[in-house]
Amino acid sequence: MEEKISEVRRKLLKQYDVLEVKTDILKSPELKSLFALIPKADPNERAVVGQKINALQQELKQKIATETFEQDALAPIDVTAPMDINAPLALALPSSQGSIHPISQEIAYMSDILQRMGFHVYESREIDDQYHMFETLNFPKGHPARDDYDTFMTVEKDSDGEPLIAPAHTSTMQNRIMKELHGNLDKGEPIAATSIDRTFRNEDLDARHEHTFYQCEGIYVAKGVHVGMLVATLKAFLEDYFEREIEARINPFYFPFTEPSFEFSLGCPFCDKKGCSVCSQSGWIELLGCGMIHPNVLKAADIDPSVYTGFAWGVGVERLIMMKHNIEDIRHFQSAKLDFLRQF
Ligand code: DAH
Repeated sequence: MEEKISEVRRKLLKQYDVLEVKTDILKSPELKSLFALIPKADPNERAVVGQKINALQQELKQKIATETFEQDALAPIDVTAPMDINAPLALALPSSQGSIHPISQEIAYMSDILQRMGFHVYESREIDDQYHMFETLNFPKGHPARDDYDTFMTVEKDSDGEPLIAPAHTSTMQNRIMKELHGNLDKGEPIAATSIDRTFRNEDLDARHEHTFYQCEGIYVAKGVHVGMLVATLKAFLEDYFEREIEARINPFYFPFTEPSFEFSLGCPFCDKKGCSVCSQSGWIELLGCGMIHPNVLKAADIDPSVYTGFAWGVGVERLIMMKHNIEDIRHFQSAKLDFLRQF
């Protein structure tokens, strides 16, 4: 009996592929004849046979539902059309066909690596004040580098009479985190934290720039922290993330909140430094900003820079994901294109 069911299943699946109206498969004489076999089956086997035949019918129904749904779901939507509040609700994706957004997946993965390395994970903010975004980070009022951040500001003012800001970097969390974990230092433990979240800049959009993007910030403060530890930590994190060995290089750079500041580059892990499209044929990828936390930034968090030192870094999350998964355009992430999202 089992063989008979398998044989009919094979036949039906073949027929299914060439059928124009897919639901006709449920009316096929072969399927009907299988059902007719149930009452004739040996009473001991009847229940099992019935289950198997029902399972086959279910399988076919599911196949039809999935395929017809995919066609419907992929029909383009006119997002510019005016909203009709009386329109029927859009067809919701069944959860079996949904997937976690690649950015959420990768943030979870990065947080997990950093957590295993001993970093506390913090959420950042979607609105903040100029005190945290600039002042505590050693950009006093009127500092020219404030202009580099192309910030979006609100009409509402904070208690200093300054507009609020949609944070342009996750460094906006540094002061809060250091204050909150200050007690660690008194216990002889380091402050080790990461904040991976959304940031905003008034950017012109292209394949590498989005107005809304994600950053991964890291800070580490303790006694005797030095540049070697910064490089080793970043190298360990990136090797875990890319699942391969990397070569690291740092070059001098400038940020108001670190001194010295560096640009951290890695030997292209995709071509072994021979030159490829990921590294623009140069063999090296300038990946992120980092440095030793500026004494003024430590002081703003009530940490004595003559006793404690620390390092910090900030890296674009999409940049890492794009490198790892060979994605050519940052705009895909927020495009809501199902054929992009379904690859993850
Ligand atoms: N906040 C910087 C930016 O968005 C990135 C950065 C550089 C963060 C150096 C840091 C750092 O913590 O130490 O451009």
